[in-house]
Amino acid sequence: MSAIDEVKQKTDIVELIGQYTTLKKAGRNLNALCPFHSEKSPSFFVYPEQQSWHCFGACSTGGDAFSFLMKKEGLDFGEALRQLAQRAGVALPTRVERDTQRDANDRLHQINEAAALYFHNLLLNSPAAEKARSYLAGRGLNQKAITDFQLGYALNSWEALKPYLLEKGFKESEMVEAGLLVSTEDGKTHDRFRNKIIFPIWESRGRVTGFGARVLDDSLPKYVNSPQTPLFDKSGTLYGINLASPAIRQQNLAVIVEGYMDVIAAHQYGLNNVVASMGTAITDKQITLLKKLTKNILLVLDPDAAGEEAMLRCIQYEDKFDIEMRFVILPAGKDPDDIIKEDVQTWQKFITDALPVVDYTANIDKEHAIDRLIPLIAGTQDGLRRHRYLMQLEKVTKIRYAKLESTVEAFRSRQTIRKPNVKPTARTSKTIVSSPLEEECLALLLQHPELKKINVELLPDYFEGSANREIFSAWCQVGEPDSLRDKLDTALHDFLDALLNRPVLATRIEERYNRYVLRLREEFLRNLERKRAAVFALEAELKGSGADLDKLKEEGIEVSAGLREVFTRQSRGGRPGPQKNPSG
Ligand code: UTP
Ligand code: MN
Repeated sequence: MSAIDEVKQKTDIVELIGQYTTLKKAGRNLNALCPFHSEKSPSFFVYPEQQSWHCFGACSTGGDAFSFLMKKEGLDFGEALRQLAQRAGVALPTRVERDTQRDANDRLHQINEAAALYFHNLLLNSPAAEKARSYLAGRGLNQKAITDFQLGYALNSWEALKPYLLEKGFKESEMVEAGLLVSTEDGKTHDRFRNKIIFPIWESRGRVTGFGARVLDDSLPKYVNSPQTPLFDKSGTLYGINLASPAIRQQNLAVIVEGYMDVIAAHQYGLNNVVASMGTAITDKQITLLKKLTKNILLVLDPDAAGEEAMLRCIQYEDKFDIEMRFVILPAGKDPDDIIKEDVQTWQKFITDALPVVDYTANIDKEHAIDRLIPLIAGTQDGLRRHRYLMQLEKVTKIRYAKLESTVEAFRSRQTIRKPNVKPTARTSKTIVSSPLEEECLALLLQHPELKKINVELLPDYFEGSANREIFSAWCQVGEPDSLRDKLDTALHDFLDALLNRPVLATRIEERYNRYVLRLREEFLRNLERKRAAVFALEAELKGSGADLDKLKEEGIEVSAGLREVFTRQSRGGRPGPQKNPSG
């Protein structure tokens, strides 16, 4: 998590705004006289669940904690960030620290890249790698797969990579830090990977962070991997993500398998949306990585007990991350790798027939399906999802919906009694994750300066997150990335780099840009409508002053008109129509 995200997570907007104005409870939200202008009746609202605020009065704008503080104290983004960080007790890395850290990491990336090339060259050219080459050929890998994944070979020697990298100007200590050398008790070092097939592992941005290495026979352990290093965190990594992300986005589906060989076989056969968890446990970090690309995740773990356990542990992720998961049960004794090589069509059929959570759980263990699923359903926050689970459960168990529902409800009420009484304004457990749509659109803009010439009504307000809003506003003022960096607070530089390096599809740029803008506008209007409707309902209930209600009603009509226009244009393929400002 970046420092900015951490500050956001640890800041309670209710508490923050409460210091400037007296907040009164208004249903699930809070309201107050607007702290930005003088008014008689309160038109300023705070939404704890979204950690956002909106003024329906003269300001007619809103945002998050950062933008509140910026507006209220007249600060720029960096100043607001530093104040909030201090409040939240988050240490922001100083510029020097950040730069030194980045330089050190750059150095480790360089070593890894040099090592990957070294291993790759050996595999392609060294007579000593003959056995490795025939092993891979025997596993059915073609030349393209070997180059795409830059597979390599480590010589059967304690000191081969080390002298090579020393020659290249890298220090022994750096090689140890990168995990390429092992230090022994007597203070000496030697190559970690020996007589192995090498699988370089890349992060999404395409830099080598670590390595997997396989023995050439049936001996154990089958694989040795890089240890935890400043760059490599196995449990937070998905093998193949660098090559798979465009396809995952395009197909709006990610397939997770277990092994290196499974991923390579899949890509060799054109199944490019496949990544590997590299072992069985799927972690929060891995799901978070994928969620930036798609909400649909399909799990194909090996058909053994460990794989099954790992998949069952994943059923809770749907609600936790607001994603849709499906599960594939493979025939015993077969890895994805075997099935794909036998017949891709069979594989495709498994993918199409993948089971949703309830069906999958029932399929694994019908007898205990109820015991497993009732607590899961009871713990599910999203009411619509709970309803869907119950419908599916009714189907597989033939127990009536009403009966299942009351069991779940009983379970839920038992849980709420046991839980300590939470403050009504406490934020929900849903973590604030950055918006993939906003970031996608920004990345596209930043990487394609020619888009600046296109005239579409993209407004700073369409970006909910202040960091995104800030970068967009700066982009509006300056063109090229270099002067953009100068304009931005240093706290935003890493984020800017991430956006500049984010893989974006380089086809039909303009068309996609138009689509993004429409979707951002749609999200903005919908969000505005949700907030407005909540306020309107409350005002109506409390018989608020007539003027307020009329104004809110009017705004509602405008928002609906704006949304209608967005929909029309979306159906026309995103071509701009007549311009109109969304909120007056
Ligand atoms: P598998 O044992 O299923 O191996 O482990 P595999 O991928 O099918 O390999 P082949 O087909 O026999 O060559 C699945 C994944 O778990 C991790 C690796 O990422 C492996 O690809 N693993 C497995 C390890 O890290 N260490 C091990 O000792 C075994
Ligand atoms: Mn296998």
